[in-house]
Amino acid sequence: MILAVESSCDESALALLAPGRGLVRELISTQTELHRKYGGVVPDLASREHLTALPLLLRELMPEIRLNPVSTVAVTRGPGLLPCLSMGLAFSRALALALEARLVGVNHLRAHVHSPFLALHAADPAGFAAARAALLPHLGLVVSGGNTLLVAMGEDLTLRVVARTVDDAAGEAFDKGAKLLGLPYPGGALIETRAERGDPTKFSFPRGIPERADLRMSFSGLKTALRYQLEKMDDAAVAASMADLCAGYQEAILAQLEAKFRAALETGAYRSAGLSGGVANNRSLRARLQRMSQSHGVPLLIAEPRHCGDNAGMVAFAALADTGLPVGEAVMADPSLTVDLT
Ligand code: KG4
Repeated sequence: MILAVESSCDESALALLAPGRGLVRELISTQTELHRKYGGVVPDLASREHLTALPLLLRELMPEIRLNPVSTVAVTRGPGLLPCLSMGLAFSRALALALEARLVGVNHLRAHVHSPFLALHAADPAGFAAARAALLPHLGLVVSGGNTLLVAMGEDLTLRVVARTVDDAAGEAFDKGAKLLGLPYPGGALIETRAERGDPTKFSFPRGIPERADLRMSFSGLKTALRYQLEKMDDAAVAASMADLCAGYQEAILAQLEAKFRAALETGAYRSAGLSGGVANNRSLRARLQRMSQSHGVPLLIAEPRHCGDNAGMVAFAALADTGLPVGEAVMADPSLTVDLT
């Protein structure tokens, strides 16, 4: 069995995966309430919470661990918040020693890239390798609070970054936009709910880098445009137009993601596409990318909602499914790299 530990940001999570059976248990403790009053995650507070939460979650898993010995402890090695990662690494190192298990470091972004394949493994663990081989090469879009990446997975499972944002991540754009609109952190899901009642054509926001041949994404101009728009309106006008503002703002993010995903899909001979990361919870994004990939005759695998945000299930799965993982002592990823796939 693989026991996975995730603590890269404000979620403490553990998961148990039996290679022949799939995910046996998944536990998560979120800190959203704690950080809401600060308008974002405070790293030192988050790491202190991990110290409390991880042993409590482990206690819940002990009956299963006693029945089925753990051979591998898989831990997120980065990218992420350093105090949070180090808490998870120290916890996992102690756990691996106590359980006499090997310790494997998992790259958080690689885990996101592999997460759309989790359902395929769950449906038929024995037939997984053959089923996945029929879907490679694969183009994955990872959209989270910290990263926005298009990643190609080759037939030999090597990963290559095809494109990424040059500034903010899509989730960051959602959260910063929400803050400007007076909505609490994290605002992505709140923008989506309000956008459902709005007209996306009432307010127009910039859509990053318009050139089709340029796959790079950009989201920082969007929040500046929203700020200028809001400066022209008083509080009552903002409240009255909240749904339309959210709809226009969300449309600019989703249209850009779709345009770049489509352009990247057309440049390679991909046999499947993938969508994962926290922003992949967005129902409009899921629906429009589903339509787009269907029109290209390419199946789109979407990570299940519980595997979109930070979770340990995808970390356990990556330890099993990603041959590119370094095996041996887990070490922290190089914090100077913003997009590190090692
Ligand atoms: O993957 P994740 O937990 O972030 C990182 O670890 O980086 O995803 C969190 C991000 C936040 O920016 C949040 O606002 C966004 O995902 N998000 C959404 C939705 N649900 C979560 N964005 C848009 N629509 C949603 N429904």
